[in-house]
Amino acid sequence: MSKPKVFVTRKWPASVEAKLKALYDVTLNEDDRPLSADEFRSALQNYDAVCPTVCDSFPADVINVDNKRCKILGNFGVGYNHIDINAAKAQGLIITNTPGVLTHSTADIAMTLLLMSARRGAEGDRLVRSKQWTGWCPTQMLSSDVTGATLGLIGFGRIAQAMARKAHHGFGMKIVYFKPSPADEYVVDDLNATRCESIEELLQIADYVSLHCPGGEATRHLINADKLKLMKPTAHLINTARGDVVDSAALIDALKNKQIAGAGLDVYEGEPNVHEGFLALDNVSLLPHLGSATLGTRTAMGEKVLANLAAFFAGESLPDRVV
Ligand code: DGY
Repeated sequence: MSKPKVFVTRKWPASVEAKLKALYDVTLNEDDRPLSADEFRSALQNYDAVCPTVCDSFPADVINVDNKRCKILGNFGVGYNHIDINAAKAQGLIITNTPGVLTHSTADIAMTLLLMSARRGAEGDRLVRSKQWTGWCPTQMLSSDVTGATLGLIGFGRIAQAMARKAHHGFGMKIVYFKPSPADEYVVDDLNATRCESIEELLQIADYVSLHCPGGEATRHLINADKLKLMKPTAHLINTARGDVVDSAALIDALKNKQIAGAGLDVYEGEPNVHEGFLALDNVSLLPHLGSATLGTRTAMGEKVLANLAAFFAGESLPDRVV
């Protein structure tokens, strides 16, 4: 019997690509070139499974292509806001994702950005590299305390809770969170966490605000000019969720006018483009969507896709079915 045909849109860790080659008639993207909408349409027409990732856009006009052979999108990533879920549902196209395995690496990057922003790490690095540093002095580059400060988490799923544990048990931070329903008691007890009744309440009391909600229409510009006005002038905003959760232009204004002290960003509206306004500011730390970028995590993400494909082709129930 011929092997199922699988199309992978970007380069994956070598060990996972080797397994794909052994199991399937697979087309890999050896030179890791970003692909076009027409190439995705053609993949949907010619392969049994297509494995996109978070930087590949699958809107309705791609998913609705005629003469589709593909039955499953095995997404390499936990977020799936780049795929039109309603179109997929209507077309009977299955979607799976990779939850659970990128929790710690993403929480680590959120904590990295919090520390970089609080302690002006990126700015200090630029000072040294530019040979402008003239030596230690008591008032140079003063920054904000992290230990003992209040961390506010918007969204309180796996990644937010992992960050909260690092912040609370490692840095003695107080934890407040907003999520529509209260978190499990054992989580709240472990973190001595307090639930805010609203995002507005959280924004007013947190020294550091970290975003952990999914992307998509429902959360687009959740953090806008009005919300930024509620934050303390000493507060920092951290975003490892999705770029469009924050109105970039409003954040740039807030940073420029020192309405808030700083921001740390791993994700951007219109990624990989980054709003020019951020590049001119010293009080924002910018990373290139590194949340899950450890070899261990990316390998585990690939293994998750493999497990979903194996279940699909065996006619079994899918471990991580989204649609
Ligand atoms: C995801 O999986 O959604 C992450 O953003 C990748 O780092």
